[in-house]
Amino acid sequence: TRNGIDFAVADLSLHEFGRKEIRLAEHEMPGLMAFRREYSGAYPLKGARISGSLHMTIQTAVLIETLVDLGAEVRWASCNIFSTQDHAAAAVVVGPHGTEEEPKGVACFAWKGETLPEYWWTAEQMLTWPDGKGPNMILDDGGDATLLVHKGVQYEAAGVVPATSEDDSEEYAIVLDTLRASLEKDAKKWTNIAEDIRGVTEETTTGVMRLYQLAAAGELLFPAINVNDAVTKSKFDNRYGIRHSLVDGLNRGTDVLIGGKVAVVCGYGDVGKGSAESLRAQGARVIVTEIDPICALQAAMDGYQVAKLESVISIADIVITTTGNKDVVTVEHMAQMKHQAILGNVGHFDNELDMAGLQRYPGIRRNNIKPQVDEWVFPTGRTIIVLSEGRLMNLGNATGHPSFVMSNSFSNQVIAQIELFTKFKEYDNEVYRLPKVLDEKVARIHLEALGGELTKLTKDQAEYIDVDVEGPYKPEHYRY
Ligand code: NAI
Repeated sequence: TRNGIDFAVADLSLHEFGRKEIRLAEHEMPGLMAFRREYSGAYPLKGARISGSLHMTIQTAVLIETLVDLGAEVRWASCNIFSTQDHAAAAVVVGPHGTEEEPKGVACFAWKGETLPEYWWTAEQMLTWPDGKGPNMILDDGGDATLLVHKGVQYEAAGVVPATSEDDSEEYAIVLDTLRASLEKDAKKWTNIAEDIRGVTEETTTGVMRLYQLAAAGELLFPAINVNDAVTKSKFDNRYGIRHSLVDGLNRGTDVLIGGKVAVVCGYGDVGKGSAESLRAQGARVIVTEIDPICALQAAMDGYQVAKLESVISIADIVITTTGNKDVVTVEHMAQMKHQAILGNVGHFDNELDMAGLQRYPGIRRNNIKPQVDEWVFPTGRTIIVLSEGRLMNLGNATGHPSFVMSNSFSNQVIAQIELFTKFKEYDNEVYRLPKVLDEKVARIHLEALGGELTKLTKDQAEYIDVDVEGPYKPEHYRY
């Protein structure tokens, strides 16, 4: 704690570099800056205590400072052990008007290269406000903050944290340890926190899936807004964002020439489509795997070979998973890969690759090349290169999606935070999406920033196609 601000970051002296990059990013985030102007002096988030769990990057710093500008108090942690940009974390703690000695920014608990116990410690810090209260809003990416609160409440109701659970992963054991320790200290900690929470806004596909599961089971403790399925989020960030940051991660991680290589992309959803496009643009021969015939057919129509992983794993130079599913690349697949083939995941969690199986493989050896790049040596002498230990390599090996596309996503986050914070009483404990007019507003701001000219409907035309001149321009079922 310094000047009343709690933090745990790698190096606070990096804040000046962070501030310079934040200043450049602000220009590239016209949506967030437009909200700062629109709400100037109105403070729609006054009284909001937002606990945020989202990659602590430069772009997120601009989001955080926008929330603060709108009146919120904020505590932050990253949602991934490798995704923090340490200069961004330092800059949000110091804030635009503070100094290293006298920081005036926000409480932030994030550094690049956390261990898993450290990660869950930062998550708990982010949700634990100093005055013994809790947050009244959560901003989540992947659902870990929401999970901690829900599991905490569940185990407090039971009065005990189980020794093991349905999910026997190493990581979940750490979640259980975290909750066991908090239960011993305060038997009502998470129950009290949950009671104050007006809602959660969720950033990504995987977190949204978890929310719908909770809602379906009748276990969701507060309303949720699915930000991911705003069109200006998933059809832009997931797709055009990854089109930029996937290749960035491959280059920074390995600097291997992509042109002429065989690249396999597992999954052809929004992230898969952007991944395949970027690899093809580099001259790779791209092969797609899918379980959904519609997405598989889309891949075929886009000109990609569609194959089972088993059929092509032994010819792949690069394998990228984008499914949000688990066990997509098994250790048996890995053992069949070419010498020095590259394996990376950009789906939310690392269980997409069987990293546990790889570590247990008889005779396997790990040779660390540099942070977030490992060569795994099979007993045959053949090696594969695994990026970011199987975690989001576009954030671990590079810096994630660039500002302009994140401005779209985070504009939706800001709208969703204001909506739930101010109107929570109008919402049930269900998962909601933002209205289409707001999606169109976000797109309009960013189109204007790019110098695009939008054609205006005449009243007559609008009546003919049965929409309002001011939008929304499409029915809910339209797919873009
Ligand atoms: P999506 O649902 O649009 O696409 C996933 C696709 O994977 C689907 O088409 C599905 O049929 C396919 N799939 C599922 N299991 C499969 C399997 N075993 N083999 C092959 N294909 C399979 O989801 P979206 O939006 O593309 O997100 C995917 C993941 O990426 C999620 O975990 C999401 O949270 C994450 N994400 C990561 C980002 C990043 O910066 N790295 C950005 C945005 C999302």
